[in-house]
Amino acid sequence: MNMSNEQQQTRARIYKPSEEMVKNAAVSGMEGYLALCKEAEDNYEGFWARHARELVEWKKPFTQVLDESDAPFFKWFADGQLNVSYNCLDRNVNNGLGDKVAIIFEADSGEVTRVTYKDLLVRVSRFANALRGMGVKKGDRVVIYLPMSIEGVVAMQACARIGATHSIVFGGFSAQALRDRINDAGAVALITSDGQHRGGKALPLKPIADEALAMGGCESIRNVIVVKRTGAEVAMDKGRDQWFDDVCATQSETCEPEWVDAEHPLFLLYTSGSTGKPKGVQHSTGGYLLHAIMSMKYTFDIKPDDVFWCTADIGWVTGHTFITYGPLACGTTEIVFEGVPTYPDAGRFWKMIQDHKVTVFYTAPTAIRSLIKAADNNPAVHPKKYDLSSLRILGSVGEPINPAAWEWYYENVGASRCPIVDTFWQTETGAHMITPMPGATPLVPGSCTLPFPGIQAAVVDETGTELPNGQGGILVVKRPWPSMIRAVWGDPERYKKSYYPDDFKGQLYLAGDGAIRDKDTGYFTITGRIDDVLNVSGHRMGTMEIESALVAHEKVAEAAVVGRPDDVTGEAVVAFVVLKGERPTGEQAKAVIKELQNWVGHEIGPIAKPKDIRFGENLPKTRSGKIMRRLLRQLAKGEEITQDTSTLENPAILDQLGQPLS
Ligand code: PRX
Repeated sequence: MNMSNEQQQTRARIYKPSEEMVKNAAVSGMEGYLALCKEAEDNYEGFWARHARELVEWKKPFTQVLDESDAPFFKWFADGQLNVSYNCLDRNVNNGLGDKVAIIFEADSGEVTRVTYKDLLVRVSRFANALRGMGVKKGDRVVIYLPMSIEGVVAMQACARIGATHSIVFGGFSAQALRDRINDAGAVALITSDGQHRGGKALPLKPIADEALAMGGCESIRNVIVVKRTGAEVAMDKGRDQWFDDVCATQSETCEPEWVDAEHPLFLLYTSGSTGKPKGVQHSTGGYLLHAIMSMKYTFDIKPDDVFWCTADIGWVTGHTFITYGPLACGTTEIVFEGVPTYPDAGRFWKMIQDHKVTVFYTAPTAIRSLIKAADNNPAVHPKKYDLSSLRILGSVGEPINPAAWEWYYENVGASRCPIVDTFWQTETGAHMITPMPGATPLVPGSCTLPFPGIQAAVVDETGTELPNGQGGILVVKRPWPSMIRAVWGDPERYKKSYYPDDFKGQLYLAGDGAIRDKDTGYFTITGRIDDVLNVSGHRMGTMEIESALVAHEKVAEAAVVGRPDDVTGEAVVAFVVLKGERPTGEQAKAVIKELQNWVGHEIGPIAKPKDIRFGENLPKTRSGKIMRRLLRQLAKGEEITQDTSTLENPAILDQLGQPLS
């Protein structure tokens, strides 16, 4: 696990926070950061409890903090009761923020809608009442398959309000993926829309939902609620399907929240693991909300006048924590954006920052890299062409940010005055784990720097022994923290095996990433996943999921999928395929490649489509039949195979598989 040359070369460059930032930030200077760390070290539970009391409003205050009696199934604030929607909406309205804008929604078309906290509370209450009226109750699962929209946030908040556990399925996922998630969660209701607008096009959503529901295995769904977005004509099943506006129209504007225990599951979010099907990551109510708020306060230094914009989709955890929950719980004005960064042109993000005077901007390295390319090709969409002077903090998330992209972001978007917080975290961690504090941490491009106060991250070897700085190893977290995953839905064994494996005696949380700490500063650099999980444009995908999709195609006998570094998307999917018939070549091969790419798009979603597909008469296997993925990774990168291949059953196929066609 060595650092790349690029990373090493820029290690010496350090960016210190400005005096003004140090003076005004919630975490002021390294003294401020270290004081928080020390508070947590001296009294771990006391540290989190203090924040939980200060930042969350409890219906019934907790008396217990961390319960480790059933480790690794941890509980936080277990005897406390609260409601997340109350904390995000009523609390702000009660505190005089009713007329403050909560959401500035910008549609794909550019149309802007503003929703105040008071309006949002009414919308959420109405829909929450409607759900209750349909018999949806505390603990029921509700699947949400919606595009970026005000209704998406309303639907999530409404579930939280009545204690229903939501599970969002990203609007780019296929019918099959939707069906599998509904089935695994045993959801009673599905909230979707007629379609979605993306890049000037209207795309269908309800027809995909109908396809999913018709597949079988979704019998638990009693109600389908459809938001009208594109106006496309859609089939409505009488007795099952209803329009969102219709079900809300007759409802009361107030809705008594369901007070739930802190450990009540707020949501499930399916994410890819190294084996088998995606797992339903289950999050709690109290601990999750706490760390969502803390991340807003400390990492983004959120202030009452900020305009916050997280560009993620609500279908991913970043959208949960930094669109639906964190900003609203802090009474922030935030942007919700329906479109894509390149429509009507690649200056869209910069124009929106300018128009809405965004102060804190949070996006993914893949977006930055694609916008660098676009600005290189067309100076008119260069960020310097826009007035971005409102910005004060920039954020990055989802994958490692390469130092060159970091520097560009810093200089061109942040005008060399805005700190970049490179936030490392995961679906499972709920909120930030390793990240700079903007008014404290000197920044080093490519490093997510130091753990969030209270988070005990470490780099260990295969036995769980902590490694000295400068030595790459496995990233772990030594103590449970409030916003951590509580369970893999319906599969406690998988939770234990994935996150608290026996190799570490069940004592350490295994993130699934490699990391190295700098010799001098102790700063963390994430070196990438250590399992068979790929990260394409910041989207997590299991190689096995894509392999399963490929072998489900009638022409495919066998498939192996690996990742390859990609300039824009971080990683790209490369598939090695053995067909049932003859190995195709030339035009015929190209046609099959197209067919298989579309097939994977249909089975999982367009984000999983292999960029490159290679055909062989076989895959490189050891004599015992194990696929040699190490070799496939080298072939995918176009590297020459120098190592000993004598254990291979049939070394000649390496030549076949080394030929890219697509
Ligand atoms: O590999 C790490 C990478 O994204 C994974 C988590 O993906 P997901 O659960 O989809 O959540 C993404 C958004 C929180 C991690 O295991 N990752 C995320 N952030 C960073 C990162 N890698 C390096 N640097 C980051 N800042």
